Amino acid sequence: MSDFLIAPSILSADFARLGEDVEAVLSAGADVVHFDVMDNHFVPNLTFGPMMCQALRDYGITAPIDVHLMVSPVDSLIPAFAEAGASIITFHPEASVHIDRTIQLIKDAGCQAGLVLNPATPLHYLDYVMDKLDVILLMSVNPGFGGQSFIPSTLEKLRAVRKRITESGRAIRLEVDGGVKVDNIGEIAAAGADMFVAGSAIFNAPDYAEVIDQMRAEIDK
Ligand code: DX5
Ligand code: ZN
Repeated sequence: MSDFLIAPSILSADFARLGEDVEAVLSAGADVVHFDVMDNHFVPNLTFGPMMCQALRDYGITAPIDVHLMVSPVDSLIPAFAEAGASIITFHPEASVHIDRTIQLIKDAGCQAGLVLNPATPLHYLDYVMDKLDVILLMSVNPGFGGQSFIPSTLEKLRAVRKRITESGRAIRLEVDGGVKVDNIGEIAAAGADMFVAGSAIFNAPDYAEVIDQMRAEIDK
């Protein structure tokens, strides 16, 4: 896998022809499928579950699927997503009573594990789990909807987490999610992110390859 991963969020894809749309965005150069699971309880919106993930696998999607769980409680859904073909499973600490246990459940199910921190969630949740995490996902919008604006204080948080990852000596991915566009992805990369979720910026563009190429060019600047 490359050093910088582009992960289109299928929240902004065409649900009526999801398989084709996901195939198109991967052919256009995306690395990972970002799969937003919302429960109308932890977040005020409702999307899709493990059956949809399985449907993408059955359709022939072989790229990694990055399942972002915005559900509470979270543990009971983990085995079902692992069986349905999830590659990475991330969750919010506020949605888990026992954070270490949830990480272990994800790993035992054979997936990579990630913790998601909302814009106002402090970094101390990372204190005793850095040795277990594969991914840290910083939300740069409040979770629940696509198409919101990037919250600028995320840049400082990204720099702080990048420092902690370097100090840990582990190859933890630093993912950012929300309001990522061609015109801000350069500074987001400079702040330390190496995995970029983008929903509306990619799926609302007429040419997926063009916007993904532009994003990579901004990251490489
Ligand atoms: C928000 C989701 C995001 C969202 C990003 O709760 O986690 O993945 O789809 O959408 P954009 O890129 O449009 O901000
Ligand atoms: Zn997401």
